[in-house]
Amino acid sequence: MKNLKNALLLKQLYRLKQLGYSYTSVVPFQEEEPDLTLPNTLEKLQKQALECHLCLLSKSRTHVVFGEGDLNADLMFIGEAPGATEDRLGKPFVGRSGELLTKMIENVLHVKREEVYITNIVKCRPTDNREPSPTEAHTCQPYLLKQIELISPKIIIALGATAYHYLTGDETNISKVRGTIHKQNGYTLIPTYHPSYLLRNPSAKKDVFEDLKMIKELM
Ligand code: URA
Repeated sequence: MKNLKNALLLKQLYRLKQLGYSYTSVVPFQEEEPDLTLPNTLEKLQKQALECHLCLLSKSRTHVVFGEGDLNADLMFIGEAPGATEDRLGKPFVGRSGELLTKMIENVLHVKREEVYITNIVKCRPTDNREPSPTEAHTCQPYLLKQIELISPKIIIALGATAYHYLTGDETNISKVRGTIHKQNGYTLIPTYHPSYLLRNPSAKKDVFEDLKMIKELM
């Protein structure tokens, strides 16, 4: 909630900056206190996210990539941020790393991609494929937390260091925590390597295979 308030304030300050202000000592606009509660259905939440302008990623995005899959899924995969293909198509993990993720889900876990839910820490593409900044990640976090609350998965797989970091607050290197089990907020979180890391480091695929086999047993 505090993140959302700060993001709204930041948005007002950016507006003032565009108007030429470089300093203000007062709360910029005395607008009525906005309603900061997020909708309680995924459909309405997605609609709100599609119209989101709370951070600068909204200026360069083509599409908001909210997430896709089974809204009652027991398994949820969370990546870092949409890439160029995802931004163009408005769907998560549909580029090269998405192809690999689909194989991981279907060939190792033996479930259809449509039966899990897939989303990211931030819903809009950071240009140049950079990591989302802490401000961007924290600004987008209320959408992700609400998605998790509404879908209520049993197991969340954090794909890569960024997802693990923002889901747990822990900055331990992903190579040390991959394959470990974290019980939190009513779900089991398991971090593993990000598919794009696997594309660059195919020798790490065997580790992910082990992690997925363990997840399969938990399922
Ligand atoms: N990488 C991610 O983290 N997410 C996507 O949706 C695509 C690539």
